[in-house]
Amino acid sequence: MFEASRIDTADKPAFYRELAAQLEALLAGEPDPIANAANTAALLFQAMPELNWAGFYLMRQGELVLGPFQGKPACVRIPVGKGVCGTAVARRASILVEDVHAFPGHIACDSASRSELVVPLLGRDGVIGVIDLDSPSVARFDAADQAGIERVAAIYLAACGEGADLAKAS
Ligand code: SME
Repeated sequence: MFEASRIDTADKPAFYRELAAQLEALLAGEPDPIANAANTAALLFQAMPELNWAGFYLMRQGELVLGPFQGKPACVRIPVGKGVCGTAVARRASILVEDVHAFPGHIACDSASRSELVVPLLGRDGVIGVIDLDSPSVARFDAADQAGIERVAAIYLAACGEGADLAKAS
């Protein structure tokens, strides 16, 4: 059975190297996109300090729909181009928001959220969803976090293989 071990968070590059190794072990041999999203969200929420929400939105018939997550109940549907998540899909690029109050159109699911990092899942046929992290601290995320979570997204997509696109199709 997999058991996440505590990771030292003082050195971010080292933290993300260790997180990536644990995620690869956690997802090894499992292609199911929902199971892998659930375990990825759980690992992120357990391992990363100062988070109040960690999870997935998956593309369903042209819009983002809430997927597996940890944290408070969240809004279910986000159109492409709306909020931080929908904007990351439209741009096909990660978005780092130091202060959500300063991001026009930010969708407030949990009033405790003050900063946010959204990384798109770039499948073979386009964006299949996003990983969304929220923090109660302003400027919780920086370029090292963005690079680390982009690596997490790549590990998730590689584990799901062709199954990743099934998450989009259904
Ligand atoms: N804040 C996001 C909505 C999702 S919640 O944070 C979980 C956004 O603006 O897209």
